[in-house]
Amino acid sequence: MNLRKLISKMTVKQKIGQLVQYNATAFGMLGAEITGPINKMKFTEEEVINIGNVLNFTSASEVKTIQDLHLEKDPNKIPVLFMMDVIHGYRTIYPIPLALGCSFNPKLVKRCAEIAAAEATANGVHLTFAPMVDYVRDPRWGRVMESCGEDVLLNCVMAQAQVEGFRGKNLSALNSLASCVKHFAAYGAPEGGRDYNEVNISEGALREYYLPAYKAAIDAGADMIMPSFNSVNGVPSIANSWLMKKILKDEWKFDGVVISDYNALGELMPHGIASDFKEAAYLAFSNNCDIDMCSQGYIHNLEELLSEGKITEKQLDDAVFRVLRLKEELGLFENPYHGLDEEKYKKIALSTAHRDIVRKTAEESAVLLKNDNVLPFSGNIKRIAVIGPFAEEHEILGWWRCNGKNEESVTVSEGLKGLLPNAEITVVKGCGAKLTDDDTSGFTDAKNAADQADAVILCLGEPQNYSGEGNCRTDLRLPGRQEELAQIVASVNNNIAVLLFNGRPLVLTELEKNVPAILEMWYPGTEGGNAAANLLFGRANPSGKLSMSFPESVGQCPVYYNHTNTGRPHWTKEKKTVGGYFSDYIDCGNLPLYSFGYGLSYSTFEYLDLTLSSGRLTKDDEITAYVRVKNTSGISGKETVQLYVRDLVASVVRPVQKLIAFEKAEFKPYEEKVISFTVKEEMLRFYNQENQYISEKGKFELSSGYADNLINTITFELV
Ligand code: NOJ
Repeated sequence: MNLRKLISKMTVKQKIGQLVQYNATAFGMLGAEITGPINKMKFTEEEVINIGNVLNFTSASEVKTIQDLHLEKDPNKIPVLFMMDVIHGYRTIYPIPLALGCSFNPKLVKRCAEIAAAEATANGVHLTFAPMVDYVRDPRWGRVMESCGEDVLLNCVMAQAQVEGFRGKNLSALNSLASCVKHFAAYGAPEGGRDYNEVNISEGALREYYLPAYKAAIDAGADMIMPSFNSVNGVPSIANSWLMKKILKDEWKFDGVVISDYNALGELMPHGIASDFKEAAYLAFSNNCDIDMCSQGYIHNLEELLSEGKITEKQLDDAVFRVLRLKEELGLFENPYHGLDEEKYKKIALSTAHRDIVRKTAEESAVLLKNDNVLPFSGNIKRIAVIGPFAEEHEILGWWRCNGKNEESVTVSEGLKGLLPNAEITVVKGCGAKLTDDDTSGFTDAKNAADQADAVILCLGEPQNYSGEGNCRTDLRLPGRQEELAQIVASVNNNIAVLLFNGRPLVLTELEKNVPAILEMWYPGTEGGNAAANLLFGRANPSGKLSMSFPESVGQCPVYYNHTNTGRPHWTKEKKTVGGYFSDYIDCGNLPLYSFGYGLSYSTFEYLDLTLSSGRLTKDDEITAYVRVKNTSGISGKETVQLYVRDLVASVVRPVQKLIAFEKAEFKPYEEKVISFTVKEEMLRFYNQENQYISEKGKFELSSGYADNLINTITFELV
């Protein structure tokens, strides 16, 4: 279709409509029966007819009604684009993205995104506001659950996997879901871990840690990008010309659609950057924001800005062109419903095939944090006590569960009963998981049940609305009286394993002292209980590695693996006594309780050696690192082999460890394998004082193992 010709026939108001997104409720004005609060924006009927993009719709029939009504009334017959937050599944929910990071398995993550796309498109969705690829270091921030964690490489790989999974090869395919990467930029670094708070980071750190995953998503084909709510070095992203013009357009040549976050234009007023919606619309539009999500900025002000000559018709046409081109790529002009197919949806949503994938992903994302010879439990165990607020809890899908329904998730006790039909399973709640849950009257029953059981499964965590947007915490311990419950229960039965359900790294310092086994399940999704049962009883072997460090104390936050050295380093877990002029604390060590890259398995792996094809690397050449690993157990299992680098002397301070490659490999009993990694000059680059991306000659250390526990270190030289 000749889109430019179409644009030339459109009125200014119609063009502006293409740059507006609004909730489905707006369409109630056209006579559509829509669920939800009525439109408060006071649009005219003409304005509603012109709206080109919708979010917050509830069903396929709502999509159809809106699309039909719109097409009937729009003289240009331009289909509406339907967008939704499909973050970790549409109806069959897979683990939260922070857990996906722990799987270190991009193929599986891609598969998850594919099933999300299949379900979402069949129910009428055209585009997802995902992947969220914000780099994170502070677990107080509630939205770490949406991120793949604290490593740049892992974030980039997972960004790519998700974009490819959502989009498929060809956007017009009926099960392809267009993808919007977010939140550009550095939304994951709010001061104090408080959502929406300001971000102040040097350009070098932004470029090295925070920006790469957005770029990786764009390179993988992301169709849209969403600037973040926060200010970056003083200017909110949507109005930040350094981000929106210099980085996004000039350097990255991004030519897709830019959409604001929800009412982000309106937020420029409390930010103190704009005095009214007109100024906000000007700032956003002139900084390349194409679509205004749910504010009154564009719909009521762009026309005036145009007539005053503040923005040009060419700018307007170009923005409209980008939106129409996306609609065309999705094939909407030929088929405005894209993949909508209610019969297909009924067949695939929650199908066995989709459940199998999400269960496998939940198994691969779980991280075994501690295991003093407790797990796996023997299948012959007769009496099992399942204790704790998450024993029978369906709310284990996590925030952003889209159309997933809590009641459709498999609870831990259901999973156990399914796996062990002949076992005697006693379920006791013990106490609640909310901050305000103070009732300990269930402790006696919990203690008695534990006393009489052969094995205890203690299910603890945070309610699923304690993480996600707007849900930040200053105390990262288990809420309520759960730590006491653990202590009491473990005091009568030492054959106990804790399962954790949470959306962020928690402070487990007390819990860890009292129980012999801890399995981090995160919010595992629809098949959570089945995955947990399989892991506990050895039907599945844990293989997850942490994508984000678990602090020893909240006061350490942010505590992350790829830190730099001070001039007075003191990297130890031990508390020191008062005195001594080191960079440390007098009441806590410097290292986290569990570091990035850590995670146990029922197999045991020995890292035999790390060798190099050459000790000298040149700019145009590459060398190979060989990591020899042996499964020293009789249990087959997967191990994520990790390769870290340290630049010993450089013109700017470099991190003491940086992941440059990883591979998850399967090992048969007693199998030995050599995992090889290519090491290139580009992996050693960083931003110097002038923010040039360079490498510097000199010595580098390479290590295997995991962060804070590097082993088999060898050196090589970049010449
Ligand atoms: C606000 C959130 O920040 C963003 O991630 C989401 O996509 C939009 N709301 C739309 O729901």
